[in-house]
Amino acid sequence: MKLVAFSAGRRNGNTEIYIKEALMAAEKKGVEVELYRLTDYDIHNCSACFAGAFCPADTDIEKCRYKDDAPFLAEAFLNSDGVIIGAPVYSLTANSLFFAFRDRVFGPRMDIASPMVGMPAAAFIKGRYKHRPAGLISVGGCLHEHWTGFSLSNLFTALIPTQCEVVDHLNVYGIAEMNAAAVSEKWLEKARRLGENVADAILSGDNSWRGGDRGTCPVCHLNYIEVIPGTDDVLCPLCGIYGKISVRDGAVTVEWPDTPECRGENRFTVEGKIFHLKDIQKCMEEFAPFREEAKQKAQKYRDYTSCIVKPPSKG
Ligand SMILES: Cc1cc2nc3c(=O)[nH]c(=O)nc-3n(C[C@H](O)[C@H](O)[C@H](O)COP(=O)(O)O)c2cc1C
Repeated sequence: MKLVAFSAGRRNGNTEIYIKEALMAAEKKGVEVELYRLTDYDIHNCSACFAGAFCPADTDIEKCRYKDDAPFLAEAFLNSDGVIIGAPVYSLTANSLFFAFRDRVFGPRMDIASPMVGMPAAAFIKGRYKHRPAGLISVGGCLHEHWTGFSLSNLFTALIPTQCEVVDHLNVYGIAEMNAAAVSEKWLEKARRLGENVADAILSGDNSWRGGDRGTCPVCHLNYIEVIPGTDDVLCPLCGIYGKISVRDGAVTVEWPDTPECRGENRFTVEGKIFHLKDIQKCMEEFAPFREEAKQKAQKYRDYTSCIVKPPSKG
């Protein structure tokens, strides 16, 4: 059984230290481990260069215009039984290296629901769809946790299409300088536990939540709530589930009814992904009669190039 980890942090940096602490703990449990330092790999960002609605590389990853290490990293993921993803926080989000990795390796091409709605399955996956357990590690340098705002939720977004199940996540803050992670026993201990939790899930096949704090949302176990103005309805913007908010005895309470209306769009379920893909199909169907008209009307914008500043590197 193999656990693979992807680090978007500095070489030998803080993210890498926490990931290695987790991997050492997992190895002790008897799983094989591998670490991919994304800084070592050549990963071009996705530039959505395709003309139609879908990228040809979604069915054959080698068809991407960028000949880099993304297919190799996709293979590493597909050959694993569990995954840890870690990234440092840059300006409240995960860093840009993580996003390039997410868009090139994951995204629609890893969507396990595509074949269920008649979309072509990615041939390179070759039957390697599985519900892998996952752990997420975000590392921020500021002493106040709110400076890590969106980073853990960003890490989740890589895994949505794959149907990985996050069994633990760790939001480290206040760890800034090189090596600082190595002396923070509080966070190291949590990283060890995260490694053990992912290993236990791999070995038992039970991907239920093993992290401590259950958070406000029962799906992602984070505390994001989007209010829907003028109602008492709330949405978890990461998962896409709906609930009702109230204040009881001075404390905010959210109830998350387990009904199709409230949970049907949960993108962490196969049903939620099918809902989303049908939504895309409907969007395309509705647009189809306007395609030619849109092309003609867009010509005006294509022709307006006098405002564009060319990069000096391109003359
Ligand atoms: C461009 C840049 C932006 C950053 N922005 C934040 C931030 O918004 N919040 C935060 O907590 N830390 C921020 N940091 C600090 C890093 O998250 C911190 O140093 C972390 O330990 C780096 O992890 P690494 O050693 O694995 O690369 C930023 C660092 C850089 C280089």
